[in-house]
Amino acid sequence: MKNLYQEAADAIAARITGNPETAIILGSGLGALADRITEATVIPYSEIPHFMHSTALGHKGNLICGNLGGKHVLAMQGRFHYYEGYTMQQVTFPIRVMKLLGIRNLLVSNAAGGINPTFKVGDLMIIRDHINMAPNPLIGPNDETFGPRFPDMTRVYDREFIRSVEEIAVKNGIPLKKGVYVALTGPSYETPAEYAFYGKAGGDAIGMSTVPEVIVARHAGLRVFGMSVITNEGYHFADDFVNDGADVIAAANKATDIMSLLFSELVARI
Ligand code: HPA
Repeated sequence: MKNLYQEAADAIAARITGNPETAIILGSGLGALADRITEATVIPYSEIPHFMHSTALGHKGNLICGNLGGKHVLAMQGRFHYYEGYTMQQVTFPIRVMKLLGIRNLLVSNAAGGINPTFKVGDLMIIRDHINMAPNPLIGPNDETFGPRFPDMTRVYDREFIRSVEEIAVKNGIPLKKGVYVALTGPSYETPAEYAFYGKAGGDAIGMSTVPEVIVARHAGLRVFGMSVITNEGYHFADDFVNDGADVIAAANKATDIMSLLFSELVARI
């Protein structure tokens, strides 16, 4: 795949200016961040060789290059999910392309179900660690040009970034949770028994994204920050409750201004 990564990187490099060092995956909850990027060059995924197309609800398909918080950034407006039918190599393809473009930091957001009973819809959670229940994206021959066969996962989520975001939150009076994100494939939501199971296993929130990209990013030595917006509560179920994708998106969109502020201030400090 190496030439494919390089071909995509070359096509992007030909259209952007500056040397962005930070990439942001605008997952659920970060829609508004795209509007804060100035002097933006928008490249539809369809114009980047070998890029996939986003099909997921609420996800667009553009790479945005521009200024945020006084820094050059690359933002992915729309990500790829395993449940869409892509392979894990396809889901994580953009991470290696961005590494070739000189990216050193990866910031990601997602929507997640709360399994910690103190979490409420609308809460924001700094991801401090994860439990990966989906196939590992590094399965297969190792590409040594990116990283080692057996990459360390002891401190996946950068402690300095976490400290910075905690400071920014205190300064702005924004309450934050911190916890463990459980990643599984979806697309079905969990049963009440499954939510309870992953809570007992040490999870605080659960979702269908982020960890594949994060593993590939850590393999390639990128510094990572992740945040979840809690869009539903997986620890009590009224008799008539149903999990619904539209409710999840609506809850994520409500958090977008606060989440965008946290991310843009973090970028400014990096
Ligand atoms: N489970 C899995 N993924 C999710 C959820 C959930 O409850 N909410 C938002 N994404």
